[in-house]
Amino acid sequence: MIEEGRMIRIVCLAFAMIVPLAASVALAQPAKNNFFPAADMMQIGVYYYPEAWPPEQWARDIANIKKMHLEFVHMGEFAWTFMEPEEGQFDFAWLDKVVKLCADNGLKVVLCTPSATPPVWLTEKHPEVLAVDADGRVMQHGTRQQASWSSDVYRRYVGRIDQELSKHYGNNPAVWGWQIDNELSHYGKEPEYNEASQRKFRLWLRDKYVTIDALNRDWGTSFWSQRYQNFGQIRIPNAKEQVAQLNPQSVLDSQRWFADEAADYIRFQAGCLRKYCGDRQWITTNFMHDFAAVNPALSGNDLDITTFTIYPVHGTLNEGPLGFRLGSASAMSFAHDFMRNINGVHGIMELQPGQVNWGETNPQPYPGAVHMWLMRAFVAGSKLVCTYRYREPRSGAEMYHYGLVGPDGVTPTIGGEQYQQAAEEIAQLRTLRDPAAVEPASYAARRTAILYNYNNRWDIDNHKQSVRWDTYQHMLKQYRALKRLGCPVDVITEDKDFSRYPFMIAPAYQLVDEKLVSRWTDYVTTGGHLILTCRTGQKDRRGFLWEGPWAAPILDLIGAKIAFYDTLPPPIVAKVTAGDQTYDWCSWGEILNPNPGTDVTAHYADQFYSGRPAAVTRTLGKGTVTYIGVDTIDGGLEAQLIRDVFQRANVPVEQYDDGFLVDWRDGFWVATNFTEKNQTISAPAGSTPLVGQWQLPPAGVTVWRAGQ
Ligand code: GAL
Repeated sequence: MIEEGRMIRIVCLAFAMIVPLAASVALAQPAKNNFFPAADMMQIGVYYYPEAWPPEQWARDIANIKKMHLEFVHMGEFAWTFMEPEEGQFDFAWLDKVVKLCADNGLKVVLCTPSATPPVWLTEKHPEVLAVDADGRVMQHGTRQQASWSSDVYRRYVGRIDQELSKHYGNNPAVWGWQIDNELSHYGKEPEYNEASQRKFRLWLRDKYVTIDALNRDWGTSFWSQRYQNFGQIRIPNAKEQVAQLNPQSVLDSQRWFADEAADYIRFQAGCLRKYCGDRQWITTNFMHDFAAVNPALSGNDLDITTFTIYPVHGTLNEGPLGFRLGSASAMSFAHDFMRNINGVHGIMELQPGQVNWGETNPQPYPGAVHMWLMRAFVAGSKLVCTYRYREPRSGAEMYHYGLVGPDGVTPTIGGEQYQQAAEEIAQLRTLRDPAAVEPASYAARRTAILYNYNNRWDIDNHKQSVRWDTYQHMLKQYRALKRLGCPVDVITEDKDFSRYPFMIAPAYQLVDEKLVSRWTDYVTTGGHLILTCRTGQKDRRGFLWEGPWAAPILDLIGAKIAFYDTLPPPIVAKVTAGDQTYDWCSWGEILNPNPGTDVTAHYADQFYSGRPAAVTRTLGKGTVTYIGVDTIDGGLEAQLIRDVFQRANVPVEQYDDGFLVDWRDGFWVATNFTEKNQTISAPAGSTPLVGQWQLPPAGVTVWRAGQ
């Protein structure tokens, strides 16, 4: 609710005066300003919706946020109807008041572009901007993300509100940074099929292929008479409007286009903001941490900081008996290790403070879990963590969603207390930080890259060959194995330098080309230890199988051939052994034929190929290559074989339980216990923990100084 009778500052601008905004503008590199000084390490803030609360409560709420020792307030991402109540009439007076209250309380402000929630006047006047779902239904006003990012008309309106906002706040020292949009997606209804999107997809294809013959060749359209005569005949592949299996090459391209279009939309909005805020304020968007349709790695050059949203407890079971209350250690940690490596600066923009309202069930997080997630974010290098949301709403779509305070607007929730605790601990750790601290050598020696490419995930998931296969969980199995060894992990994309890493895993890296394989070969011959897992190298970048032996380009590298693969129907489970250990598998198994000089490290233990190799390893130049051809149910075989790679390389490792994470940042060791058991740290002589105890209960956190 907005205060009645307030001073309204109305800025009227004719569309004609606005710079054309429909196309994205080329951007300068992100600002080089140091928005996140090393000494601050991590700052904690909260979402606040002044437009939803009586103005007479604003001063109280902002003062209470400060009393919780938080450092910034996030506002505005859904407030378009209050910022531009009528077309071309802008009202920031109400927001000015809250920004000033924040500044008066020593709180920084993060403002947002409201493009996820167009006002009703906009979509009423321009229904053509509304997204269209797979069934051809036009999405309507009443929730959010109902507009098409591909619509030039919509972009014109978005560009105008963005520029008005940045003109108004781009010089305000209280405004620390900007968030573009909110969780770019259509909440499961993507891609959307608005005519503007169809047109953009066709333009993207024309740019990529130039001629329709090239498209026909690379989509394999000779089959089923699919051949196109011109680009105008193509529509975004949509299972709801086609009879049989979609063409996989066309689907892969539509996924690439959709991700590029999202990145283009981000670039477009960043350009609108930078026009007035220059490099005085940072810019981000809040990506969903495991949402495969929008690829954060495409925006590394457009954003100053990569941020993501994560709700660890929302009714899924996750790992271990307490996973449903503690969240998934691996999913959370993997997201940090991926987002951090996009451009080196990252944080969490939404982290739940307690129960949510949108899961199939909505359990209470385990006592202390919220605090543990915050400290996990800290050690993973986050520059900021913002929690969603300050007040628990009393009406509307997010009733039952916890805030830092309950529905009375003042009483801290259990999560609210944990945010305050973490904020106080970070403040204390800042005073103890040693700017000269160096990453311990034994930890650095284990640094491992996981190579991640959204194209692989898309292509495998488009054609899994087994309902029991899960690409994301397959990556997490390798990740969990590394964290059990106490490895620092960087999840990187192919544009990064491989030589920084003594170890690298490329899990299920299905699409490759000669260039990548030769980079891998160089990496190994110069001393790297490379682990490839099943499904790697099976196709070219178009998604074509090789005209040659299965996975032809990687065979010389791994020193083996792949005779065939198998998948098992439920409930069949088969066995694979390594040494004296036996593991279950069911989703994917490749039967390998090693070349002379290649060692077999695992064998199938049943089925008609019992005794045949499932995993191999070999030395090549100064390094080693390991190929794990099977996906075990609990990742146990992978964990054993990965540990063996470190042992053969004479690199000492830890032996942590799955879900007990120990990492280093800025001179501090931080242990977080996502398991159901007590965990014990062998205390370094003469030291006491700065936070927690040497024995950690579930959700426990211990922080201690390195070298003590
Ligand atoms: C996020 C979303 C927020 C809010 C939150 C509730 O996915 O970005 O706007 O809806 O969920 O948990």
